[in-house]
Amino acid sequence: MTLQEIIEKRYSVRSYLDKPVEEEKLLKVLNAGRLAPSAVNFQPWKFVVVKDSENKKAFESVYHRDWFNQAPVYIIICADHTQSWKRAADEKDHADIDAAIAIDHMTLMAIELGLGTCWVCNFYTDQCREKLNMPEHMEPVAILSLGYPANETTPNKKRKSLDDVVIWESF
Ligand SMILES: Cc1cc2nc3c(=O)[nH]c(=O)nc-3n(C[C@H](O)[C@H](O)[C@H](O)COP(=O)(O)O)c2cc1C
Repeated sequence: MTLQEIIEKRYSVRSYLDKPVEEEKLLKVLNAGRLAPSAVNFQPWKFVVVKDSENKKAFESVYHRDWFNQAPVYIIICADHTQSWKRAADEKDHADIDAAIAIDHMTLMAIELGLGTCWVCNFYTDQCREKLNMPEHMEPVAILSLGYPANETTPNKKRKSLDDVVIWESF
């Protein structure tokens, strides 16, 4: 698959087959995140893998959706605010941006491997922290569900047109 095809094929998968993800594929997805760029190359992240059935069960209350429970793997992408780059001009913390790039790398690698993902940010962060014994300086940025999609076809992408989003030269 070309990168263009991978980008077009990716969508938020909210229905998964009851089929485990092979260790080798999981490691490839995680490695794609590891290879992502980050501000000053600080790599201020940890990727927590939850796939043990008991631990997954405990996550049902973190994000309460039937489809989410179906996914065989959760990757919780956590930002480390003690390691992230803060811009001198305004002290903007770039941890979220770095984490988002790592997540996007994972979503695209998943496609190459025949897997599907869904970003989840609308979850109970306090519960997530508690279940993972997360240190205070870390932030759970997103949960990525990962597994084999139940449906093969990519739904039509509803997107603004290029004209709507591109500004040439200046506002
Ligand atoms: C930062 C971010 C947070 C998201 N949070 C959720 C979420 O909590 N639950 C969910 O079902 N989808 C979530 N999504 C998926 C979006 O709804 C989805 O990407 C968007 O509607 C575009 O659809 P597509 O991914 O199928 O192309 C999130 C996506 C992003 C990028």
